Amino acid sequence: MKEKNTAAEKQEEAFNFQKDNYSKHYLLIIIPDILNIMKDSLNIAIAGATGYVGLELIKILIKHKKVRISYLCAQKSIGKSINTFDKSIKKKNLPKISKIKSINWSNIKIIFTALPNGEAQKIAKLLPSNVKLIDLSGDFRLQNYKLYEKWYGIKHGCKKLIKESLYSLTEFSRKQIPNYKIISCPGCYPTSIQLPLIPILKKKAVNINNIIIDSKSGHSGAGKNLKKKYSFVKNLSKSVSAYGVGKHKHTAEIDQQLTLVAKKEINVIFTPHLIPMYRGILSTIYLELSKGYTAKKIYQIIKKYHKNNFFVKMAKFNKSIGTGNVINTNFCEIAVCKSSKKNKIIVISTIDNLIKGASGQAVQNMNVASRINEKMGLL
Ligand SMILES: NC(=O)c1ccc[n+]([C@@H]2O[C@H](COP(=O)([O-])OP(=O)(O)OC[C@H]3O[C@@H](n4cnc5c(N)ncnc54)[C@H](OP(=O)(O)O)[C@@H]3O)[C@@H](O)[C@H]2O)c1
Repeated sequence: MKEKNTAAEKQEEAFNFQKDNYSKHYLLIIIPDILNIMKDSLNIAIAGATGYVGLELIKILIKHKKVRISYLCAQKSIGKSINTFDKSIKKKNLPKISKIKSINWSNIKIIFTALPNGEAQKIAKLLPSNVKLIDLSGDFRLQNYKLYEKWYGIKHGCKKLIKESLYSLTEFSRKQIPNYKIISCPGCYPTSIQLPLIPILKKKAVNINNIIIDSKSGHSGAGKNLKKKYSFVKNLSKSVSAYGVGKHKHTAEIDQQLTLVAKKEINVIFTPHLIPMYRGILSTIYLELSKGYTAKKIYQIIKKYHKNNFFVKMAKFNKSIGTGNVINTNFCEIAVCKSSKKNKIIVISTIDNLIKGASGQAVQNMNVASRINEKMGLL
């Protein structure tokens, strides 16, 4: 080997020696840290990763300090990179898309199911005891399987597990969440409706026989097969359409949850509308006040109830709101407005259907289930 003679060569040699040792030293410090982080990480799988909700879940969870994404599953596109579906996902080393059946269950703690209705129940049956299921479909939302079969038109394959699952909108179920293995996330419309209505019903402040709800949603609410699902709508990108009139699946879920709170049967009138924008829900709720209540009192009731619920914010009293304030966030914004009739009020609630109405609330549930900061990954 050629001897190093010049001062410059000797200096470089010394520098390289220092650099090598520094790198080794640095690795010795950093490897245990990485191993510790991996040990503490919550290994998760996302089923339905290539869908609208699945992609939002990925975007939240790659920012989440305590989570490691171990599996991204779908039906098609096996072996492809998730970046093919959303170029904004830049993180390297994400797993390639795989089949659900290739999951090694002993490697994960939680599986999110963002699948079409009827699919999560198949996974629930196979679930080992160490894994929690956080479902974003309708499979575990209705406590009575007969109602599920009626409204969804699908046979329920694991009726017993419905009883063992928790319907969980975090703001109302925080304490129970850690005790459940199957956590069922509410639908997007029911989320926007329950957040303002439940506090009011708890106080018996309105006539439960006269609740009318008019909701509007961007078209991402239908998932990626929008055109197939709404083939009956002409000129989708330029028209506003009422759909599911008098028979939308979410009606059953809204009635169920409001009835549980009121302890009296509630049947709301609920009409959803599809509007020509990508994301966001705005629900307008018409209510008749019980004796002794005013719009201002209702405002104070909701505000007080949600005072410790970080992701629920109140607009100023009697001021209207739009979806713009909550898009791309996990927040729900609520407005209470007077009407021209003394005993009637209008409550308006708005969320991002893909976040607070789906992926964000699922992560909020996961955080509480895993006893980590409820806001982690969501800001
Ligand atoms: N969109 C919303 O605003 C929203 C809000 C709340 C709740 N949800 C609920 O969340 C769920 C997902 O909604 P989405 O809008 O994300 O639907 P989507 O865009 O149609 O995505 C569905 C996902 O499921 C996968 N998939 C379908 N069948 C499968 C199977 N048999 N095995 C494995 N993967 C399968 C699809 O992958 P392939 O393409 O490979 O089949 C795709 O990744 C639905 O239950 C929906 O009701 C949606």
